[in-house]
Amino acid sequence: MRLIILAGANSIIGQSYCYRFFSLENTKTIQISRSIDKLEKEVERVQLDLLDKKETARFVSSIPLENVTQIYYLHLAGKFKFEEKKEHTRYLDMDVFNTNYTTFINAYHALSTSTMEKRVKGDVHLHLYGFGSVSDEFEVPYWKSYTQTKNLLRRFIEVACINEKNFSGAFFSMSSVNTPKERKLRPNADRRFWLSSSEVVDYTWRKILEHEKGFNDYRIIKSNPNYDYTFFKPKKVYTRWMKEMGKH
Ligand SMILES: NC(=O)c1ccc[n+]([C@@H]2O[C@H](COP(=O)([O-])OP(=O)(O)OC[C@H]3O[C@@H](n4cnc5c(N)ncnc54)[C@H](OP(=O)(O)O)[C@@H]3O)[C@@H](O)[C@H]2O)c1
Repeated sequence: MRLIILAGANSIIGQSYCYRFFSLENTKTIQISRSIDKLEKEVERVQLDLLDKKETARFVSSIPLENVTQIYYLHLAGKFKFEEKKEHTRYLDMDVFNTNYTTFINAYHALSTSTMEKRVKGDVHLHLYGFGSVSDEFEVPYWKSYTQTKNLLRRFIEVACINEKNFSGAFFSMSSVNTPKERKLRPNADRRFWLSSSEVVDYTWRKILEHEKGFNDYRIIKSNPNYDYTFFKPKKVYTRWMKEMGKH
């Protein structure tokens, strides 16, 4: 049996995955969020703060694994911050770091520990999936904390997939997705070239469930005719984002 764990299930992307996996045979899905009211009620919901290491370990060790042969952990929990001021370039924002990275580490430790015996025997396989931005490779100064944290997360997943027995995974670097938070942050943006959450799921769900070995780094992009090699240059980003956020 497959077990799918959706962390960050409250996001619109998390809910789109939930609807997609819901109807699959031989598959159990668990949704994790700190606030479960808006989660799909027909699918198991768990109220959990992934920053609480003890509670995370307690919850994961309580999941029955008898008939489970494949575990898919999708880490959608995350936070983005536009860092406009000069002092932002000196420090890593701990809220951004913890929400994107520490949450993952807590879940990872709990999952790798609770599956260790079965993994070593080859009875279960753990698949890890992270999500970040196509801008991660450009180190844009206005979201340095986000980029550095996502790059660390990507690398962590890659190394775990290389080093640990019966682990595999992937990282999905996405262009802008049309989510309520993104619309609120950038009300004046041209959304024609934003991905919808169902497009994200359409492009990725088979890659997730059919993935067998090693690590893959995927880019999920809605093609944009305005994109060229200067798109993520700091000056261009600043002008575009100020306009999109309605600040200039
Ligand atoms: N939107 C985009 O344009 C875009 C582009 C590229 C990559 N991404 C990535 O895709 C993922 C989803 O993005 P999104 O925009 O849909 O994000 P979102 O709406 O902000 O959702 C983030 C999710 O994280 C959960 N979360 C935060 N802290 C948590 C904690 N301590 N414990 C448990 N859950 C926690 C939140 O649930 P609760 O608050 O209910 O706990 C929420 O469901 C993120 O990793 C993001 O970086 C998004």
